[in-house]
Amino acid sequence: MSRSQWRIGIAGLGNVGAGVLNFLSERPDFAPAGAQAVVTGVSARSRSRPRPFDISNLTWFDDPVELARSPDNDLFVELIGGSDGPAKAAVEAALKAGKPVVTANKAMIAEHGAELAVLAEAQGVPLLFEAAVMGGTPAVKMLREAMVGDDVRSVAGILNGTCNYILTEMQSTGAAFADVLAEAQRLGYAEADPTMDVGGFDAAHKISILAALAFGCAPNYAAAEVEGIDQIDLLDIQLAKDLGYRIKLVASASRSEDGVLVRVHPSLTPIDHPLAQTGGALNALFIEGTRIGRIFIQGPGAGSGPTAAAVSADIADVMTGAVRPVFQRPAAALQPFTPVDPSRNHGRAYLRFMVKDEPGVIAAVSETLAEAGVSIESFLQKPVQDAAGVPIVLTTHSVAESVLSAAIERIAGLPAVIDRPRLLRIARV
Ligand SMILES: NC(=O)c1ccc[n+]([C@@H]2O[C@H](COP(=O)([O-])OP(=O)(O)OC[C@H]3O[C@@H](n4cnc5c(N)ncnc54)[C@H](OP(=O)(O)O)[C@@H]3O)[C@@H](O)[C@H]2O)c1
Repeated sequence: MSRSQWRIGIAGLGNVGAGVLNFLSERPDFAPAGAQAVVTGVSARSRSRPRPFDISNLTWFDDPVELARSPDNDLFVELIGGSDGPAKAAVEAALKAGKPVVTANKAMIAEHGAELAVLAEAQGVPLLFEAAVMGGTPAVKMLREAMVGDDVRSVAGILNGTCNYILTEMQSTGAAFADVLAEAQRLGYAEADPTMDVGGFDAAHKISILAALAFGCAPNYAAAEVEGIDQIDLLDIQLAKDLGYRIKLVASASRSEDGVLVRVHPSLTPIDHPLAQTGGALNALFIEGTRIGRIFIQGPGAGSGPTAAAVSADIADVMTGAVRPVFQRPAAALQPFTPVDPSRNHGRAYLRFMVKDEPGVIAAVSETLAEAGVSIESFLQKPVQDAAGVPIVLTTHSVAESVLSAAIERIAGLPAVIDRPRLLRIARV
């Protein structure tokens, strides 16, 4: 549909909303379609809150659902956040009214993407969410559009800037997790309630979306196996470094004959690996295609400017008139998502046991591993540190996770082992 102006309603005027409003007020003619993008109506929680932009000439809606339904806008932009509640209600209302929707809401797309895709496609309108994953770095379009000529085998990377910032700071300053988190909160890099980020759930939302785009299945957040960075000890960061690794929160999705495995967990990455070299709040992603081979992208995963740029790119797509399936293929033709049992997964691992400083402990640990069928790749024993015991650290050759778990259970029961064993995977990316 060709028009000279697109009237835009924006719900959510926080970090991202401010960036989008500022950009569109400065550059209403930015879209290649040649039409003007004009914000006409807005909604947020508090009308009276001071904001870094003027909304006095825009129509205010207390209820984002009313804004979504309003006949005075042609395109609805949802920047409230949250998987359910007002964000989802407003997006559904806009789609039911036959309006294109642009959102940055990873939680909503990861948890309700399939049903929203059905609604959008039934109405023949786009539902776009480039900003939901990797902020300003175009991972969504790359998988949905540029990779459709290939069969993607796996995607893996660093998808949460807060966790990457915390791990990078722990590595470079030697400060403990709790201290770095407190500083990140003070600087505004981490939320007051950091659970979504440090618990790995935000990265799990994002990798669930990427898995759907990569493999042509519906997003299945509930099937993601999630472990965050809140249990990472500084000692493991230092020991991993001695072994030539950096610890990163890696989110990955892979497809095999058995199905799809989606997981988020702290992983050891070799120090010269591009993921290990991705520092601070940056995001990075490897995409592996059968024909294309490996692609690596890296860039800002958050922030008002980068995220608003991704939202604006989606607005431009709507204005250009392209309507593609919401995920890689039409909602009715999405593949079933068959989750793979992670315990059947094979990989290398890092293990740390805190033991009493007494003879025969190393032999007992290595014998137990050998009996269980776990083959040791390297061993590291640090000098006694304190009364808490001595760390025995080792890396294994590739082993089934079920075999490894059974071996760890047995070692945990040895009398000389005085603390819970620590298992970290070594990234296969
Ligand atoms: N921040 C980033 O860098 C980034 C990056 C990628 C994706 N995202 C996603 O972008 C979305 C917005 O994030 P943000 O960082 O901009 O969040 P934010 O700064 O917390 O802003 C949220 C906005 O939503 C409004 N709001 C909250 N509840 C509402 C309700 N019931 N009705 C109407 N408006 C309501 C708030 O109103 P008030 O202003 O009145 O409180 C605020 O303007 C989220 O889905 C987030 O995951 C953010």
